Amino acid sequence: MKKVIVIGASGKIGQAALTGLGHHDVVTASRSGNGCDYQVDISDEASIRSLFKEVGSFDAVVNTVGVCEYADFVDMTEQQWMTTVMSKMMGQINLVRIGQEYINDGGSFSLISGILSSKPIAMAIADATTSGAIDTFVKCVAYEMPRGIRINAINPTVIDEAWDVYGEMMAGFQSVPGALVGKAFERSVDGFITGEVIVVDA
Ligand SMILES: NC(=O)c1ccc[n+]([C@@H]2O[C@H](COP(=O)([O-])OP(=O)(O)OC[C@H]3O[C@@H](n4cnc5c(N)ncnc54)[C@H](OP(=O)(O)O)[C@@H]3O)[C@@H](O)[C@H]2O)c1
Repeated sequence: MKKVIVIGASGKIGQAALTGLGHHDVVTASRSGNGCDYQVDISDEASIRSLFKEVGSFDAVVNTVGVCEYADFVDMTEQQWMTTVMSKMMGQINLVRIGQEYINDGGSFSLISGILSSKPIAMAIADATTSGAIDTFVKCVAYEMPRGIRINAINPTVIDEAWDVYGEMMAGFQSVPGALVGKAFERSVDGFITGEVIVVDA
């Protein structure tokens, strides 16, 4: 049994991730902290550091947070780009950059990206760009992780549980059960793979 921190546990992907991690000692966190064990803002370095200090010893970080702004490219403001970059890209990179100081030897980081980096749709350029950045980040930084620490990204299509939110934007896509995304997080946490992008598509 590993001590696993699931960040964004109250969200759709967070709930999906939890379905694959029930055999572990899981602690949960989110921005509001509602229904979770801890409060954290992944866009704030000090908040990330406080979370890891408060939890103490842990073996895995599963992050399912990546706030994205959606607009046509020609209308998207720098502020909208920066909101997305500071959450989905830098927020996740900072979780790893700071978390590697605290995580146990042989621990793992599992990050979230998304299908839109390889199957683009309108209005989603910031999500697509930062998802692609996360996929590249895990593939490359895996070579630099110290103390046997592993890192992977989960790159899912839309899940059944979120179809009511995203389905209208995603004509021609097939959703998958959230439990499949849970399996992908389980494979990342329990397996020996590193530097991998685990695609979950229909
Ligand atoms: N849903 C899908 O089908 C799907 C598919 C592929 C990829 N993704 C990607 O997965 C990520 C999560 O999507 P979702 O649908 O699960 O979103 P969601 O249902 O809106 O959940 C968002 C979660 O993130 C937390 N959160 C937001 N900002 C935070 C911050 N600054 N620090 C810490 N926690 C924060 C929220 O906490 P509070 O509730 O406390 O605010 C909540 O737990 C996104 O990047 C999305 O692109 C989603």
